[in-house]
Amino acid sequence: MTNLLVVVSATGNQGAAVIKYFQQHAPSYKLRGTTRNPSSDAAMALANSGIEIVKADVNDVDSMKTAFKGADAIFAYTTFSGIMQTPEIMGKVVAGELPPPVGQYAFDVEVQQGKNMADAAATVPGLERLVWSSLSSVKKWSKGKYTQAFHLDSKEVIKDYMNSLESLKGKVSCLQMGCFTDNMVTMPERFGLTQADGELRWAMPMSRKNKMPWIDVERDTGAFVKALLDAPGGTQVVGATEYLDGPEYVKLLCDHLGVAGTYTEVPWDGTVQDDPTGFKLEIAQVYAYVNEFGYDGGDPEVMTADELEQRGYKVPRSKIADHIKRSNWSHLLAA
Ligand SMILES: NC(=O)c1ccc[n+]([C@@H]2O[C@H](COP(=O)([O-])OP(=O)(O)OC[C@H]3O[C@@H](n4cnc5c(N)ncnc54)[C@H](OP(=O)(O)O)[C@@H]3O)[C@@H](O)[C@H]2O)c1
Repeated sequence: MTNLLVVVSATGNQGAAVIKYFQQHAPSYKLRGTTRNPSSDAAMALANSGIEIVKADVNDVDSMKTAFKGADAIFAYTTFSGIMQTPEIMGKVVAGELPPPVGQYAFDVEVQQGKNMADAAATVPGLERLVWSSLSSVKKWSKGKYTQAFHLDSKEVIKDYMNSLESLKGKVSCLQMGCFTDNMVTMPERFGLTQADGELRWAMPMSRKNKMPWIDVERDTGAFVKALLDAPGGTQVVGATEYLDGPEYVKLLCDHLGVAGTYTEVPWDGTVQDDPTGFKLEIAQVYAYVNEFGYDGGDPEVMTADELEQRGYKVPRSKIADHIKRSNWSHLLAA
């Protein structure tokens, strides 16, 4: 029997990675991807690679119902930055037309999108698994200490909603995505990575000893999703290629680039000034939370990839050094 896997937002980083993995490593799955714009270059490329592409929008529950028809499995995620980090929304907050923090706005939209996907998935009679790209609930696991980490808390609210629907009971598994390695390449300065006089400096509000789960999204997301389709419903795992602390990451990068570099821990509350949108505070609270409570907040139901493998579900993972090697760092070196 052919299983139909529907991948939401197939043109995005996570969606495209899942499709590529299943094409290469699980060809028995039939694949369908959703997009808001089937005539975009990215969507056309997917269609040309043999994927069924369906026009759907996570803001429109009926379109998601159509997209999910006949699915055996679904991989679903949202994009908080796509919702929030647009000049239109940020501009409205700065102009006082939308009350800060902007994360609250994104939270509301993201939660509604997640509920739309859940409601649509709940109408699919043969659905066996819904894999939700989740994150830890900061408010819950910090016992209310940190309340501004909207783009993490939204994912947990959506997870809880999915699990509350009768027809999805026992079918929802969660992939708690680690920190994307691409962040360092695409927006180094926002992540505190700079270069001066040929030396790298990574300054982050993150303890030197904190082993962060890093994920090479392109290479490894699909392997995690496949393992979650094989494992029982309700499984939750941190999507991590490797766990590395700051100095370890800097060393890998410096070794590759052949330069010297340092990692410095900076106070998290020193990074939040002069931001009328509240977004810097949101990010700073995420760092403070991870420092204090860990990436998964100590949630006992969330396992590591090694623990999932011990239960018999293989998660082949790449190496962060490979991601560093194949990435283009010329902009950082030229800075
Ligand atoms: N960066 C990190 O370190 C990190 C770590 C853990 C989790 N996450 C989570 O990962 C998520 C982002 O995943 P991603 O990077 O894979 O997403 P992405 O590449 O930004 O892809 C999002 C896709 O969603 C579709 N989309 C639907 N509604 C959209 C909207 N309103 N604005 C823009 N695009 C929209 C777009 O496809 P079409 O245009 O084809 O419809 C787009 O290709 C976020 O929710 C974030 O919280 C990030």
